Amino acid sequence: MSDEQQRRFDQRIASETAIEPQDWMPDAYRKTLIRQIGQHAHSEVVGMLPEGNWLTRAPSLRRKAILLAKVQDEAGHGLYLYSAAETLGCAREDLYQKLLDNQMKYSSIFNYPTLTWADVPVIGWLVDGAAIVNQVALCRTSYGPYARAMVKICKEESFHQRQGYEACTVLANGSDAQRQMLQDAINRFWWPALMMFGPGDDNSPNSARSLAWKIKLHTNDELRQRFVDNTVPQVELLGMTVPDADLYFDEATGHYRFGEINWDEFNQVIAGQGICNEERLAAKRQAWEAGAWVREAALAWSAKQAAPDAA
Ligand code: ACO
Repeated sequence: MSDEQQRRFDQRIASETAIEPQDWMPDAYRKTLIRQIGQHAHSEVVGMLPEGNWLTRAPSLRRKAILLAKVQDEAGHGLYLYSAAETLGCAREDLYQKLLDNQMKYSSIFNYPTLTWADVPVIGWLVDGAAIVNQVALCRTSYGPYARAMVKICKEESFHQRQGYEACTVLANGSDAQRQMLQDAINRFWWPALMMFGPGDDNSPNSARSLAWKIKLHTNDELRQRFVDNTVPQVELLGMTVPDADLYFDEATGHYRFGEINWDEFNQVIAGQGICNEERLAAKRQAWEAGAWVREAALAWSAKQAAPDAA
């Protein structure tokens, strides 16, 4: 690394000119991006599982078609993100193997089960809603390919969030049993959704450097607060309640104050001890093995294309 390369990199970060794959970048910047984009890609593909669980049981053809489209979108998001990670010089197979070997993380939220139909609308609304708050900020992240992937992903997440909320309004205006099912799903997903934003700022080892490099543009707590401020009025509009006895609107600051997150639970989930961690990885390993013939066929086909006269 020359001083001139470092100076040019620092200048691009300061002036918010995107860093592109061919540009020089510090090793630690590259590694941080591979870690974050890789985890993000894994989250998208593992995130297909909880909702995929309801594809055969969606209550109508319309709901089924919407859910199918949403789950397919998540697969597409994974593909853009693995491609963005590959521009940093890593192999997709390598990243994916690390997921299967439990050497890379994916979002904590996908280690919770989907017990009733109401979980599907609530995931669309709360989980994709939380993802949007985080990802809208990432549209201006300093690494060009990641920022550009985020723009398209955010458009699709926005559709996911709206369809989730629309399906929640149907349950909220339905029978007592439907309203109870909705409240129960909100009770189970509210706190895990807040945990998606990561540890509190005092406890986030990667934040300072990622903020300095403008990989992250806001802290975990700032984005979590934004999500709570956006979402509490939506819960109220549904006639539902937030499962937080300490929640109140602070007139002085214009923000909702909320109770303490159960960080022990968060730490357990990201250490692999959540309710569904084993099940999720087992499903991904099984799919990888069952898909071996597709990879072999694709390789055979491309070899044939490369040498069309040989066969
Ligand atoms: N689930 C699992 N792991 C998490 C979570 C979470 N919700 N939040 C933080 N972590 C991990 C971090 O990856 C980091 O682990 P590592 O250092 O071993 O790699 C550790 O906890 C400490 O956290 P931070 O220092 O705060 O980490 P970071 O600066 O990377 O911030 C954040 C975490 C906010 C999740 C960031 O990585 C990010 O914005 N990622 C992109 C968005 C994303 O991945 N979304 C996935 C869910 S949305 C969806 O897929 C639909």
